Amino acid sequence: SPAKGGKILILPGDHIGPEVVTEALKILDIIEEATGAKFERDFDLCGGASLDKHKDSVTEAVLKKSEEADAVFFGSAGGPEWGHSQPNPESGLLRIRKRLQVFANLRPCNFASKALIHRSPIKPEIITGVDFTIIRENCGGAYYGEKTEEKDYGCDPWEYSRPEIERVARVAGALAMQRDPPLPVWSVDKANVLASPRVWRRITHEVFGKEFPEVEIRDQLADSLAMLLITKPTAFNGLIVTDNTFGDILSDESGGLTGSLGLLPSASLAGAPAAEGGDSPVLGRNNAGGVVGLYEPVHGSAPDISGKGLANPVAQVLSLAMMLRYSFNMHREAEVVERAIAKVLDSKDDGGLEVRTGDLGGTAGTREMSEAIQGEVRRLL
Ligand code: NAI
Ligand code: MG
Repeated sequence: SPAKGGKILILPGDHIGPEVVTEALKILDIIEEATGAKFERDFDLCGGASLDKHKDSVTEAVLKKSEEADAVFFGSAGGPEWGHSQPNPESGLLRIRKRLQVFANLRPCNFASKALIHRSPIKPEIITGVDFTIIRENCGGAYYGEKTEEKDYGCDPWEYSRPEIERVARVAGALAMQRDPPLPVWSVDKANVLASPRVWRRITHEVFGKEFPEVEIRDQLADSLAMLLITKPTAFNGLIVTDNTFGDILSDESGGLTGSLGLLPSASLAGAPAAEGGDSPVLGRNNAGGVVGLYEPVHGSAPDISGKGLANPVAQVLSLAMMLRYSFNMHREAEVVERAIAKVLDSKDDGGLEVRTGDLGGTAGTREMSEAIQGEVRRLL
């Protein structure tokens, strides 16, 4: 098989962004050494640091570089010192997302270690075993329509057309098919009252019927899902695919279920990823055997703890694992990283190392946590 690897644009961003990105890249070094994969790394600015230097949250040069890369690895942007800046630091990220057309935003909801179940605000008997991923359409819908804003009137058209729905449905189908048996998929809408969700439902069923007949697809109304994610979250183990607005709200809700912001990764993909050893479909394919993607933790730049060596690097490292899997088709290495993290977080009683940062109730710093993960990755590779 051809040599693995490719070109990564690294945008560490502000505050704890650079702290956790540095640690995640040490894991990438270890993977390069052990597998012979080669990753070309280009570092640049996005967010507050870019505002300071270029008076813009991201420059055209960086947007161009993002298009040329196989993947973008992002830390986090923003902070109180840019509170009144126009544009705001976070807008840089939105512009990259738009430029890359990374229309499928994936947020897994599971426990990196079962030792952390008690951190959830939900009772253990309800939350134990939760394991679903929300796939949010992220380039269309109400957030992108032609807006009207007048003094006493506002309007945000909520539009979806066939190609936008088909492409995100295909991401859900391709991801479902990567498991044997295929994962079930819930398509979430408000087809009972809104028009574009009715079109969403019809076209999603068409795509699954024609292209993924083995996958079980079920409809779920967004409002009742919001309740059921709290009362019966494990009933949705599998994939949840939904539009931009519902996805925004439901993915924040799912983030709250585990109660550990420092552990939540995300991926934004420009196409359907390939199965292990397979080839990605044409849409969004990069030059590295995977799909173009942007990877970042769910958390922000945590200015309250930056510069102190306290940040939990796990969300950034799990985002690296997603990058290996989806943009570089390195499924085994991604799994190794995830298993290493579980071992580091697990309790000693369960054979784990019990190394945890302050946000998880532990006493380890960023470095100690990172070194423990590095050691496990080395051992497992
Ligand atoms: P935040 O996620 O940065 O922090 C919320 C709380 O969680 C803080 O107490 C923080 O210390 C803690 N926390 C977050 N990540 C952690 C980690 N890895 N380890 C340990 N503790 C962690 O959200 P906040 O405070 O609302 O926003 C801070 C800045 O980040 C703002 O400027 C905001 O606009 C920006 N932001 C940027 C995002 C991005 O770049 N995608 C996303 C969310 C916020
Ligand atoms: Mg949100």
